[in-house]
Amino acid sequence: MSGILYGVGVGPGDPKLLTLKAKEVLEGVSVIAVPVKKSGEESTALNIIKPVVNVAHKELVELEFPMEHSHTAMENSHSAAAARLRGLLDEGKDVALITLGDVSIYSTCTYVLKKIRAAGYETQIIPGIPSFCAGAALAGISLAEGHENLAVISSIRGQAAVEKVLDDFDNVVMMKAGRQMPMITGVLESRELLESATVLSNAGMPGQYIGPPDTSRDYGYFTTLVVKKGGKKE
Ligand SMILES: C[S@@+](CC[C@H](N)C(=O)[O-])C[C@H]1O[C@@H](n2cnc3c(N)ncnc32)[C@H](O)[C@@H]1O
Repeated sequence: MSGILYGVGVGPGDPKLLTLKAKEVLEGVSVIAVPVKKSGEESTALNIIKPVVNVAHKELVELEFPMEHSHTAMENSHSAAAARLRGLLDEGKDVALITLGDVSIYSTCTYVLKKIRAAGYETQIIPGIPSFCAGAALAGISLAEGHENLAVISSIRGQAAVEKVLDDFDNVVMMKAGRQMPMITGVLESRELLESATVLSNAGMPGQYIGPPDTSRDYGYFTTLVVKKGGKKE
């Protein structure tokens, strides 16, 4: 009988934010599949689970997902990962594919889970705490109150998309904001919204910064920005 593939969200950084269900699944499987950009590199998701789950006797399988922008290259890496996982599932092994934060939000895991499901294998998704929820908690802010609406965007879509979402929504979570911070802060400044913004950078990880946009800082990949157009009401 084939094994089951679990897509497991491990939360955004603090190992204590791993859910009990994620821990149970990770302890129960024989294989943990670890997405990496390049073979041999350190995995943030694996580092998150290690203090909580004993991985010493698990088979750890690296799945390479290079940061490619070409559709064909991405498709190839997803297909290669799915083929590798199918081999393990055919051996009757249960596999947990770990991913940062929650599985449903900008996770490569999703593409692979779809392929495996389409090939007729059993899959299950174990949700995790999304980075922006954990970051909002650290910042002590709400993301939506009363009738406010909330948008979650990828900042990589560029300035026009950022302007549009700020026109249309009360509150906005801007993910993948690291390299886009100069553009975003420029837009916020022109709309007098800088004071309504909170940066969530490396939330629950070394180098954590939770605070107002600071143009003198360099922001890395794990950076999210929350804008509350009505201000940060206490
Ligand atoms: C590929 S998406 C993964 C999102 C993840 N699945 C989630 O549920 O949060 C990567 C983006 O998530 C955000 N992110 C992930 N971990 C973060 C953290 N610890 N602190 C702040 N932002 C984080 C950043 O915006 C980053 O560019």
